[in-house]
Amino acid sequence: MTTILVLNGPNLSRLGSREPDVYGSTTWEQLVESLNAAAAPAETISVRQTNDESELIGWLHEALDARAEVILNPAAFTHYSYALRDAVAMLTGAGLSVVEVHISNPHAREEFRHTSVISGVATGVIAGFGVQSYHLALAAVRSRR
Ligand code: DQA
Repeated sequence: MTTILVLNGPNLSRLGSREPDVYGSTTWEQLVESLNAAAAPAETISVRQTNDESELIGWLHEALDARAEVILNPAAFTHYSYALRDAVAMLTGAGLSVVEVHISNPHAREEFRHTSVISGVATGVIAGFGVQSYHLALAAVRSRR
C-alpha cells in the first residue's frame, strides 16, 4: 500500500469562497472528495489542511517516517518558511517525492509571490492549473515510482 499525503497550508480550507477569481469556485470539500475518489486500488490518499506551520512540519516528519509521498500546497508559507523548506529537504534528501502545487500561477501575481523558498528542494512544481494542479501532481508522483 502506498500512502500519499496531500498537505495544505493556510486559508486553503476556504476554497470556493476565497477570491474565486483567483482560486476558482470548487470548494475545499469538493477538492477533498475528488482527490479521495482518485486513489488507485493500492493507494491511500490523505488530504489535510492547517493554518499552523508547526502542524504542517509535523505532518512532513510523519511522511518521512512512513516513507509516504507528498503533494504540498504550502500556500503563503511558500514565500517565507525556511522551516518548511528544511523539512521538505529531509524528505527529498531521503529519496521521497514532494511535489509543490499551486492553484494559481504565483509568477503571474504580486512580486512577493514570485519567490518560493520551497521549490529549490521540492521534486518538482505544478502551478496555475486551478484545482487540476493537484491531479497533475498525483500523476507526477506516480510517474516517479
Ligand atoms: C497558493 C499561492 C500562494 O501565493 C497563496 O498564498 C496561497 C495559495 C496557490 O495555491 O495558488 O494561499 O499557494
